Amino acid sequence: MMPTQIVVLISGYGGNLQAIIDAVEAEKISGQIIAVISDKEEAYGLVRAQEHRIPAYVLTPEKGEPRAVYDERLFTLLQDLNPDLVVLAGFMRILSPRLVDQYAGRMLNIHPALLPKYRGLHTHERAIENGDTLHGVTVHFVTSDLDAGPIIAYSTVPVKPHDTAETLGDRVTYKEHKLYSQVIAWFAAGKLKNEGSRVILNDIVLPKEGVMVD
Ligand code: GRF
Repeated sequence: MMPTQIVVLISGYGGNLQAIIDAVEAEKISGQIIAVISDKEEAYGLVRAQEHRIPAYVLTPEKGEPRAVYDERLFTLLQDLNPDLVVLAGFMRILSPRLVDQYAGRMLNIHPALLPKYRGLHTHERAIENGDTLHGVTVHFVTSDLDAGPIIAYSTVPVKPHDTAETLGDRVTYKEHKLYSQVIAWFAAGKLKNEGSRVILNDIVLPKEGVMVD
């Protein structure tokens, strides 16, 4: 079987990208990262791509460029690359429905909260402010509803009494890297499918909160 052709979209540090690169190199993911695309030229993840000889593309938005126009450029690049799977790994842009629809069932996102709680930004701050004792990270298929696509899997972390957004965030980050690699490995092995709002793993329809990965 041909290894799953993966494109990873980033905007920053690329910690998740690194975890995915490592999992591919360790053959835990039966795939190949054929390209990394960043919307920011200073993203450290681009250095990671270079170090691992992965083609890297910078696609910065022009000043005042409408979202639809930027997305059309991204759409064209993705069509040229022709991936089996698009992985959003800290890509800080909302994608237009046309792009998302094109990759329905083969575009993943990781979100640093236990969805459906805390869509959007500042998730660690919000979990602390609300006095949550449990927080975590979720991986889901991407739809045009922000952070609201069908959930695949989640990992939890405790919120400790004196946590700051930073200490809590570090705990979440550690789980993110394990969780994302695992979900991508399932997809690449053909074990993971998305049919409408249903997520199917190993021929079993998952509950709407997804499967827990420790
Ligand atoms: C992660 O917290 C991820 O959940 C969120 O953006 C952050 C990206 O971090 N979507 P990194 O660039 O992978 O280190």
